Amino acid sequence: MKSYNIAVMGGDGTGPEVVREAVKVLDAAAPKFNVKLNYTSYDIGGNRYLKTGEILPDSVVAEFRKFPAILLGAIGHPDVKPGILEKGILLRTRFELEQYINLRPVRLYDERFCPLKDKKPEHIDFVVVRENNEGLYTGAGGFVFKGTPNEVAVQESINTRRGVERCLRFAFEFARKRREGKPWGGLKPEDVAAGRKAQLTLSGKTNVLTYAFDLWERAFHEIGAKQYPDIKRDYAHVDATTMWFVKNPEWFDVIVTDNMFGDIITDLGAMIQGGMGIAAGGNINPEGTSMFEPIGGSAPKYTNMGVINPLAAICAGQMMMDFLGEREMAQAIETAVIKTVREKMKSLAAGKMGYSTSQVGDLVAAEVAGGSAQCGCCCGGMGKAHAKAPAKAPAKKKAAKK
Ligand code: IPM
Ligand code: MN
Repeated sequence: MKSYNIAVMGGDGTGPEVVREAVKVLDAAAPKFNVKLNYTSYDIGGNRYLKTGEILPDSVVAEFRKFPAILLGAIGHPDVKPGILEKGILLRTRFELEQYINLRPVRLYDERFCPLKDKKPEHIDFVVVRENNEGLYTGAGGFVFKGTPNEVAVQESINTRRGVERCLRFAFEFARKRREGKPWGGLKPEDVAAGRKAQLTLSGKTNVLTYAFDLWERAFHEIGAKQYPDIKRDYAHVDATTMWFVKNPEWFDVIVTDNMFGDIITDLGAMIQGGMGIAAGGNINPEGTSMFEPIGGSAPKYTNMGVINPLAAICAGQMMMDFLGEREMAQAIETAVIKTVREKMKSLAAGKMGYSTSQVGDLVAAEVAGGSAQCGCCCGGMGKAHAKAPAKAPAKKKAAKK
């Protein structure tokens, strides 16, 4: 039996509701894989700040360091000025725990939920590796003559060779391991003949950001040529990247980009995979404490209504288990999510799912506890061999339709 200590931070708005469902699914899956999860809850967020003035106490940051992972709901409160909680909680945790990667998979599970015409699951299956500790996010900059007609505001993009290199290396390694050696289907015959197995696209703006992306581009090609000859190196300007996300998302395997561009393109990525209700991400420190979260916000207007989609949080839990090395458990959760999305959900949008927040959690939990998810053949349980595999046990609870 393997045991993991997990810090849980529900946060603001609908955060606690979706995290509850993620925990429900994790607990349903854990015993099947001989895993035990021990949760410690942290009451951090807008309500605590409004009550006590505390944002993220140093003692909590120190405690976080002792966990391999944090499961986060959402940060953002309508009564708190934008920036205070985001910088004070989310960005501070990302920075202080050196979670230098923000990993955001973009996978379409069901074409019904894709806003793009004629795009199917096989067309939308890529991962964005977003640099998570530098760029425009460090807070470097300032005002001169603030409040006067001569006011100047400077916001600096910080790109260190060390920060860029570690992000690029992570992305190359990730691209190499993503399909366990099987080549990516989008490669051209000449790439395959040249021994390429995967593609890494650098998304930047070398035509305008001629310092920052000059560094990125040089490091990308130097590292790639020397250490990753099996990875095809590709480049796209970030504006063109957004165009291809809509027109030809099948052109992407793994994308690496800076913090700001990664923030922007992953919201678009979330929409083409079915919306914020399904998009998850991981803030990763490969040697320290990582934090997993649904990438949508706190959606305050839906708080405690039981209408928010918990699948993104459930997928964040799945990413967490994968990162902790429990790959089979992670795969079983993903298979259960896919089945629920394809066979049950009317929509992935809040209030339109055909089920309540906790019913969606129940559906996935029942599937993962009773389904035939323990497949070791790497097809994620979705391959032909499994198409007719009956569930081993009936679902625990039948979720009533609303
Ligand atoms: C995200 C969010 C955050 C970011 C905000 C809330 C600070 O948009 O995780 O993408 O910009 O990184
Ligand atoms: Mn964002």
